[in-house]
Amino acid sequence: MAKTFACQFDDTSKNFSKEIRGILVQTTQILKNNHFKNPSKEAIILVACALKIDKISLYLHYNKILSDLEQASISKLLARRLEHEPLEYLTGQVNFMGIDFMIEPPILIPRPETEVLVETLVKLAKSRNDSQTAPTIIFDIGTGSGIIGITSLKFLPNARVYASDIIDLHLAKRNAIKLSTCHSFTSAQDKSEPTCHSEPFGCHSERSEESQFLPQDKLREESRGCQSKPRKESKLKISERISFLRSDLLQSFKRKADFIVSNPPYISSSEIPSLQPEIKLFESHTALDGGEDGLFFIRELIRTSGNNLKKSGMLLLEISPEQTDTIGKEALKYFESVEFIKDFFGRTRVFLAKYPKTGTYF
Ligand SMILES: C[S@@+](CC[C@H](N)C(=O)[O-])C[C@H]1O[C@@H](n2cnc3c(N)ncnc32)[C@H](O)[C@@H]1O
Repeated sequence: MAKTFACQFDDTSKNFSKEIRGILVQTTQILKNNHFKNPSKEAIILVACALKIDKISLYLHYNKILSDLEQASISKLLARRLEHEPLEYLTGQVNFMGIDFMIEPPILIPRPETEVLVETLVKLAKSRNDSQTAPTIIFDIGTGSGIIGITSLKFLPNARVYASDIIDLHLAKRNAIKLSTCHSFTSAQDKSEPTCHSEPFGCHSERSEESQFLPQDKLREESRGCQSKPRKESKLKISERISFLRSDLLQSFKRKADFIVSNPPYISSSEIPSLQPEIKLFESHTALDGGEDGLFFIRELIRTSGNNLKKSGMLLLEISPEQTDTIGKEALKYFESVEFIKDFFGRTRVFLAKYPKTGTYF
């Protein structure tokens, strides 16, 4: 396919110069003809990536004549994109909460919805941390690229993360090392400061119901900005505050956590064939497929997490909005209270529950 497409690219290129400007126009047109939604934006990313330069340099060298080799590498990337390979896999980069993570197929590409899960965890952990000196222990189950655990550590200087997955953890480990250049997200001068999403920590502020778990003063305070005070106890790098282990859900965990957090596979098996090609052809089905009704891993975590939660510990899960009722009923068998948090679009996206169910376990 790469070869076929390269020919197509060369044939039409006689209408254009071999300058970056002309190649960009041509790439945009080809993407447009193939019904890609943001052809000009994608063309810029592809051309910059193929030439190994950033977007600014691309604009600064608009008139540069490209060599045959450079044109060929653009053609190759474009051909892969026309096969619907996600842009993030082509560039090897993905941005999550303002931080650039490395990504590679078939590990799940982090989604913006997951930011709500991390924001909720950070808010809860911070409110708990005010009165505690011991580190907050967080388990990140099904860590994939490591984004949940690593981003949480950026915001929580007094936390330790135990991140697990059933698949190889090399990418998550590399991300932890790459992002370890700063100890924690503590000041506005910190270059690795995550830029806030549209409404940092405030994406739930329009909810009418008050959260029973999130202290409202804290919520308002956080919604004004992403800053937190540096803590003396946090002298360790992120890579020194995160441990990785291969585990089938919680099976290999011996200790107890303050928070168990997970974005588990939650799509029903029957839905997988109808997903867009970018997802179903390139992302690991191990990361997507939640069994017959999509709830296999969620049920398992709800059923078993009590064994690994400290008293008043919490389970936080990313879920699909359609699963809310079933999950709520299931969770109340094991937990004292449950709550659901909405995402930026007002869709229920996060489940949280406090352990234990009063009178049952203690
Ligand atoms: C939806 S992805 C989430 C990845 C990452 N945490 C994120 O939010 O981008 C689900 C992850 O769960 C992992 N997984 C699937 N089955 C698992 C199991 N039985 N035990 C642990 N992890 C599992 C997958 O390999 C995948 O990395």
